[in-house]
Amino acid sequence: MSPETEKLAIATKILAFAGSARKDSFNKKLVKIAAQGAKAAGAEVTYLDFRDLPLPLYDQDLEAAEGLPENARKLKALMKGHQGFLIACPEYNSSITPLLKNAIDWASRPEPDEPPLACFKQKVAVLMSASPGALGGLRGLIHVRSILGNIGVLVLPDQKAISNASQAFDENGNLRERAQQEAILELGSKLATVTAKLNNGLVTTT
Ligand SMILES: Cc1cc2nc3c(=O)[nH]c(=O)nc-3n(C[C@H](O)[C@H](O)[C@H](O)COP(=O)(O)O)c2cc1C
Repeated sequence: MSPETEKLAIATKILAFAGSARKDSFNKKLVKIAAQGAKAAGAEVTYLDFRDLPLPLYDQDLEAAEGLPENARKLKALMKGHQGFLIACPEYNSSITPLLKNAIDWASRPEPDEPPLACFKQKVAVLMSASPGALGGLRGLIHVRSILGNIGVLVLPDQKAISNASQAFDENGNLRERAQQEAILELGSKLATVTAKLNNGLVTTT
């Protein structure tokens, strides 16, 4: 590894998560493949399973009465501590899952003295999806991209939707089709590389 690559590798922190909490989620498998690609490109990757971070349905009265739930604070701290997001989101009725939208809504709420959208501004993301259906969840990604773009995330144009997901993965969670596996690894690698370049090798902690 060249000194320049080494410098970028140390600096780049990627948070990988799926918009599904389901135990056997195809999207969890997918984002873990992309995470391998990001790691191979030198990034430090943290995998977040939303099953481990349950959040109440966002309610402005609840927030006014009690402030942010502990898990919303944990989520925000995680997001602020990473420069890039690898996101695999299933499509529910042609759109984003309530799980992911709810997480975004909680993370978008500022604490006192915190700048607006601190979890999202200056962050870079790559999107992907998997579905048993023929479109692979592609229609949902349009909404995920729009939401994230509107709150300050630079969502890279590269994305991939895996159709027929029930047959697409092997017993180790890898994609059976080599071209698909490589495309998802490449998504992770692309996010790591672009995020590193945009951050000039500096770690962002706020
Ligand atoms: C409420 C609901 C709505 C869904 N709508 C769609 C849809 O619009 N398009 C699609 O391809 N699959 C749809 N599905 C099927 C999901 O793609 C499938 O459950 C998938 O396995 C979810 O992703 P996961 O495996 O990561 O949990 C829907 C599933 C649920 C539960």
